[in-house]
Amino acid sequence: MGELNGKHVILGITGGIAAYKAAELARRLKDAGAAVRVVMTASAVEFVSPLTLQAVSGQPVRTRLLDSEAESGMDHIEFARWADLVVVAPATANFLARLAGGFADDLLSTLCLATEAPLAVAPAMNRVMWSKAATRRNLVVLRADGVRVIGPDEGSQACGETGPGRMSEPADIVAALAGILSPRSAAGGLKVMVTAGPTFEAIDPVRGITNHSSGKMGYAVARAFAEAGARVTLVSGPVHLPPPGVERQIDVRSAQEMYDAVHAAIAGQHVFVAVAAVADYRPESQESHKIKKNEDTVTLTLVRNPDILASVAALRDAPFCVGFAAETRDVETYARGKLEAKKLDLVCANDVSAPGSGFNSDTNTLLVIGRDDSVRIGPADKEEVARILCQLITKRYEQKNRAQDP
Ligand code: C5P
Repeated sequence: MGELNGKHVILGITGGIAAYKAAELARRLKDAGAAVRVVMTASAVEFVSPLTLQAVSGQPVRTRLLDSEAESGMDHIEFARWADLVVVAPATANFLARLAGGFADDLLSTLCLATEAPLAVAPAMNRVMWSKAATRRNLVVLRADGVRVIGPDEGSQACGETGPGRMSEPADIVAALAGILSPRSAAGGLKVMVTAGPTFEAIDPVRGITNHSSGKMGYAVARAFAEAGARVTLVSGPVHLPPPGVERQIDVRSAQEMYDAVHAAIAGQHVFVAVAAVADYRPESQESHKIKKNEDTVTLTLVRNPDILASVAALRDAPFCVGFAAETRDVETYARGKLEAKKLDLVCANDVSAPGSGFNSDTNTLLVIGRDDSVRIGPADKEEVARILCQLITKRYEQKNRAQDP
């Protein structure tokens, strides 16, 4: 029995050089037990012959929207309903843009809009196109719309360059699709709480103390757990991000509000991941009216905020606790110190001064430190880092439970 046994999969192929790998993907989907129907865009046909895909899938390949012969067999709406899953591999930058825009001007884009089945894309493009602001924007939109993004990998590219943008290997795509169709396999049943974003400590009604945290890493962690089947509660500071599709989201502003929200919902959580960049201090008192600039100097007295993570780790029935350590020097030493001081299970050390890492970046590198070892994740897209981190946390949580409960 394959991991996709009996599943109906529509494989969409768009026009990139990685289209040649789609034949192997179709074969692997079939080997995994799926019934596969292939749809190719007009430009995909320039790269690989529909006949090849017909031979591998064992079914006629569809390329046009209003093809009278094909539509008389199964029209495009029926076709969209037939699918248990739609995967577009390779998905070009152009296709991602059209998908994000909701276009329905050819068969594949129309199917993607007309289906209620989960939709996954495996992007493939030149590394510069992958890192362009427009592509990043489109991916934010697609992820918020529930589209699963598989890869891309890093490595040598057909254009002769090296970097992120290679389509994921067909075997990895099949494994990811199996995970989408049976999401309870990984973190299924786990109750996970994640804190994310900065906090905002008001000075007066219009001013406050905050930091550069964008919330991207925390939102990616929350989404990765939700996609792996966990029941996620996200406690979020003020950010400009679309909701990541979790069971429950609680929006807060200050560290004290975050502390209160976390403790109100922490009972029964199995895992607590503190990604938020919580302000260590807040103004001792908050002015009720805007402070006027009458004086040359103003003195602000700051008092310590409660340490949310340490307070959760100190609970009698503490969940599995994971902290983040954003540092600009001696990253590992400080991070290990935090692991011990706050009695954490894992700490993710993050050099926020390194290029392509930290607060406002889309990519990140983490050194995940446990009591006995450490694992490096990245450099990679924050979403990819989050997925790997989610798997690691789930595994370590299970190991700890087994050790405590022989
Ligand atoms: O001590 P430091 O602030 O560097 O520790 C960072 C870790 O502790 C992060 O996981 C952060 O979310 C958490 N933290 C917290 N409450 C605070 C300060 C930090 O939960 N007041």
